[in-house]
Amino acid sequence: MNRIPVELGGDGYDILVEAGALNNAATHLLPHIRKDRVFVITDAHVAEHWLTPLEKDLQKSGIKVISHILDAGEQTKSWGELEKLTDWLLDEGAERSDILIALGGGVIGDLTGFAASILKRGCHFIQIPTSLLAQVDSSVGGKTAINSRAGKNLIGRFNQPVFVLIDPMVLNTLSDRELRAGYAEVIKYGLINDAPFFAWCEDNYEALLNREPDALSHAITQSVRAKAGIVAEDEKELSGRRALLNLGHTFGHALEAETGYSSNLVHGEAVAAGMALAFHYSVRRGHCDEADAQRVENHLKNAGLPYSLSSASVRASGEKLVQHMLHDKKMTSGNLPFLLANGIGQTFLANDVDLADVAAFLDQSD
Ligand code: GLY
Repeated sequence: MNRIPVELGGDGYDILVEAGALNNAATHLLPHIRKDRVFVITDAHVAEHWLTPLEKDLQKSGIKVISHILDAGEQTKSWGELEKLTDWLLDEGAERSDILIALGGGVIGDLTGFAASILKRGCHFIQIPTSLLAQVDSSVGGKTAINSRAGKNLIGRFNQPVFVLIDPMVLNTLSDRELRAGYAEVIKYGLINDAPFFAWCEDNYEALLNREPDALSHAITQSVRAKAGIVAEDEKELSGRRALLNLGHTFGHALEAETGYSSNLVHGEAVAAGMALAFHYSVRRGHCDEADAQRVENHLKNAGLPYSLSSASVRASGEKLVQHMLHDKKMTSGNLPFLLANGIGQTFLANDVDLADVAAFLDQSD
């Protein structure tokens, strides 16, 4: 069992990583529950596998589970679904002293966390992430949001959960593709500032993708520890430190936008290709050795992830991809910051990137 603190003063909380934790969830959740009931928000796919075990364990401790099952998929992060969810909670008589539990992937976590931030001016919530991507990224750090007509995650709040319970065993019901896509975010932590962890990934990715519990637990714990450290330093992404977590996301955002945010290229896959492009672009600018960029590309390829424009099935011009980047929410005062690297484990924020040069680089990339 690993308990990782997110050190944010009064808003601090613990993240527990333990194989099988969901089967005795009550032991871990009870200290955070102030009434004899909880509201569990989940999606149809997750509910099929994991709602009953959670319900049964809480019921043994006298806690009633009132559940709300949403459609799986990004369309659930909408104003309409937020309204339906908060109306449902109010109809059920939810009070500020109640607790919401997000049982699901990033969509459920983001929507539930946002609903918790506004319900009766704010109630507590717990994250029980069930995808690798949610376990290593979205459930940690308190970013909550819905999508708007203008783009993804544009309406939301920083709202920290009071506890995160991560059970790597729940990943057994995740598709191979979603597992791999989540693995891209694991690799990211090695590339940001932990070269030994990237080397661990190179040695252990097969065990991890085969869902070996020790490999999964180690990768999740390392990732969560890395993210918790960065969030503690820059909770609201003000100093540039938290922005490091966006490695691969600016290039990735352009690829996702070009593929219409469709299932042709899911978020983690876009981030994978985006990280390879960020490393190759760092070589072009003279920051990074070609050998490091090649090592990143090789590892992504070995793990079955996209590592280039063509392997992500994107054939757009550099100019068109840069146009997508201009709609990125990281754009400030006409400037788009890029995460580049001096090498593996040496990511930095560059504010002087010439978008015409990025477009030329993309035109020359395969
Ligand atoms: N996923 C990036 C962040 O949480 O800041």
